[in-house]
Amino acid sequence: MKKMHLNGFSQACVGHHSEGQWKNPQYRLDSGYRTMDYWVELARTLERGFFDSLFLADVHGTYNVYQGSNRAAIQHGVQFPAVDPTFLIPAMAGATRHLGLACTYSTTYFPPYHTAKVFSTLDHLTNGRVAWNIVASYLKDAMADFGIQDNLSHDERYERADEYMDVVYKLWEQSWDEDAVVRDIGRDMFTDPDRVHTIHHKGRWFESVTGPHMCEPSSQRTPVLFQAGASGRGVAFAGRHAECVFTVSPTLAAGAKDVKKLRAAAVEAGRDPDDIKINQGLCIIVAPTDELAKLEEQKLRSYASPDGALALFSGWLGMDVSAIPRGEKLDESSTDVAIHSLRGFMQRIDPTRDWTLGAIADYMALGSIFPKVVGSPSTVADEMERWMDEAGMDGFNIHAPTQLSGLTDFVDLVVPELQKRGRLRTAYEGTTLRESFFGAGHKRLSARHPGRGVIGH
Ligand SMILES: Cc1cc2nc3c(=O)[nH]c(=O)nc-3n(C[C@H](O)[C@H](O)[C@H](O)COP(=O)(O)O)c2cc1C
Repeated sequence: MKKMHLNGFSQACVGHHSEGQWKNPQYRLDSGYRTMDYWVELARTLERGFFDSLFLADVHGTYNVYQGSNRAAIQHGVQFPAVDPTFLIPAMAGATRHLGLACTYSTTYFPPYHTAKVFSTLDHLTNGRVAWNIVASYLKDAMADFGIQDNLSHDERYERADEYMDVVYKLWEQSWDEDAVVRDIGRDMFTDPDRVHTIHHKGRWFESVTGPHMCEPSSQRTPVLFQAGASGRGVAFAGRHAECVFTVSPTLAAGAKDVKKLRAAAVEAGRDPDDIKINQGLCIIVAPTDELAKLEEQKLRSYASPDGALALFSGWLGMDVSAIPRGEKLDESSTDVAIHSLRGFMQRIDPTRDWTLGAIADYMALGSIFPKVVGSPSTVADEMERWMDEAGMDGFNIHAPTQLSGLTDFVDLVVPELQKRGRLRTAYEGTTLRESFFGAGHKRLSARHPGRGVIGH
């Protein structure tokens, strides 16, 4: 029986995907996001539940489309204020032995030479447990703050990101020979200069990157590569680069189609269909019984912030929905929405439902666009098994509206049920994150991955 992969989804900010929960006394992310204790407790909890990774999202800038300003996002704590997730990773690594630690890093803001050094450092400090969620950023707000003029189209952003990846692959995979560090006292030589190479990258977006890479090879060399774009161009990018993809398919049937597309994109890029582990996002509310879980959902809804949810939604769409009365429907067809795959998303969740703006705000307020799973441990496990068996998913990206307390409930209640059903590991496969996803011995990027074959020195 196919075992599932589990990733806990969070962000080092006040409100991630369930806006307004900072008012809930059970919710600790609102102040915890800027403390080591919170993250260490979360990491230990996920490791106790045999999760593959903690996946930390990150953005720069504010959601400023709703009502033509960032006031709603600031007022309701919508992914703001926030701190930098990369610094949390070493703290969590020191408190765990197996859990993978993943974070987003933007190809828009940070040059590849810098990103390569950051992730090699994190891979050393975690002993090979780091993953990089590759994004081409969509919030225009912060571009000017970085001194970037954003005149790239959606597809150009992916094109640029493709070349970006070639640069980091050259730095991670080719700049250093395996045995370059010789520590040879006799020859008075720490590193053999003949075994460290410049990369001489010359390209359209990155005119000239010479190197060599600053860091000696880490356990994984290239961090495990996460990606979550879902447009046509996003899927092609995933087919070439991603080792783990994070989908938010609205239904099982849509999920099955997305899985097929992603596996076909991998094959198109010369890889095997299973070289990509596909993880579906779910918003999970679990309690000992179905009735108690429904009561918990009601309680969570009492803290929800519809304006905060719509500030997030408007930012994703790149379209201000505030002028639309709550009882009316929204017409997304006319705009060049920021996230292409969100166009018509609500209709795809349920074509029979009357998706007024009020209904969208209600849906989004708990777990944004993630499908909601509310119930007892066996109800939740049944639904997860369906996503595996009917849609062909490899695993999950779990959002809990109350974050640490919800993920702790998941670990205490659902994990034993999944293990009982033979769906979840009872021991970690190896020491690196790549081994958790691909099996013992698979520490390095697969030989089939294009990152192993880019033309370097
Ligand atoms: C589960 C998930 C996590 C994401 N995390 C981030 C993130 O941390 N930062 C970010 O800028 N974008 C994030 N995104 C957005 C995607 O990287 C991508 O930009 C977006 O889905 C648009 O791509 P598309 O136009 O190909 O659909 C995330 C998307 C999903 C589904």
